[in-house]
Amino acid sequence: MPLTHIKPLALTRNYTMSLLLRGQKARCFLLHLRCMSNVPENSVYGGPKPQNPNQRVTLTHLRQKHKKRDPITVVTAYDYPSAVHLDTAGIDVCLVGDSASMVVHGHDTTLPISLDEMLVHCRAVARGAKSPLLVGDLPFGTYESSANQAVDTAVRVLKEGGMDAIKLEGGSPSRITAAKAIVEAGIAVMGHVGLTPQAISVLGGFRPQGKNIASAVKVVETALALQEAGCFSVVLECVPAPVAAATTAALQIPTIGIGAGPFCSGQVLVYHDLLGMMQHPHHAKVTPKFCKQYAHVGDVINKALLEYKEEVTSGLFPGPSHSPYKISNKDFSGFFNELQKLGLDQAASAAADKIDTAKSADGESPAKD
Ligand code: KIV
Repeated sequence: MPLTHIKPLALTRNYTMSLLLRGQKARCFLLHLRCMSNVPENSVYGGPKPQNPNQRVTLTHLRQKHKKRDPITVVTAYDYPSAVHLDTAGIDVCLVGDSASMVVHGHDTTLPISLDEMLVHCRAVARGAKSPLLVGDLPFGTYESSANQAVDTAVRVLKEGGMDAIKLEGGSPSRITAAKAIVEAGIAVMGHVGLTPQAISVLGGFRPQGKNIASAVKVVETALALQEAGCFSVVLECVPAPVAAATTAALQIPTIGIGAGPFCSGQVLVYHDLLGMMQHPHHAKVTPKFCKQYAHVGDVINKALLEYKEEVTSGLFPGPSHSPYKISNKDFSGFFNELQKLGLDQAASAAADKIDTAKSADGESPAKD
């Protein structure tokens, strides 16, 4: 083979190797980043390999689903295990909702939860959910004062919470300005209209919205204004199904319904509610009417705890199969002597008593070394 042919081949190999290495480094970097958050799509900086479309959900995926009219699935999560479960189930969007205030912290409303508390939830979820798009709620009192305050809070939710996007409630002119400012700062925003639980003070409680002409029109107009501000999606909470259908038809971005009927682009439920974790997890201390319970995990937990209590009380737990750590006869007799030297005769004979019992329960001869 002429040298002129070998050189380019070698060069190509080297080049390929270096691309592969770069690709590997990029992947390591991405994996590292993913511990913090969803990394963005890498159509420009991602190295030679195309992005694995199954690796994570991005706004592009949501847009594609929406275009194909594939329903978008959203569930809330607040900690590492719930995030892992959502991830395993292939849920599209994981919302770290301020409903944590109620279902995790036991408050009656979403108002008390602080940004620092939300950030702890966000970080735990970011560690557990590798694939879903991660959306963090801006908690009450952290974004209403000014667009600057809203941008600062949203930046913290991404930088410190490891989220990919934020959600904010409401559609007053100042809220629209805030949403626009956050989008302009480079952060994807999900809007939330209808029943906005952070506004129960002015709504007069957890009340469905859009039930009269003015209120229904307001739902549509607010959603349109949020779309205009640059939101990538809008949650519609507790509105009549036809109002949700009209809003969905009026918008180009997906609507995500909760208590808003079947005509939205996707659905969201609170993790504890859909799993039947408790009898009083959300809104007015009952599972909301609109929520289907797909399991009765609360009953399972309750039964397990009662059984555990019963077995500990009766001395059935821990039995031999859950007492795995052994001490040899030789080490035990050394230990026994040391206890005696320390003047702990009672402790020594308690241990001697128990080693015999433990060994015979294990099927071992107490005398065996
Ligand atoms: O905080 C939350 O969980 C929410 C959902 C109910 C949409 O905002």
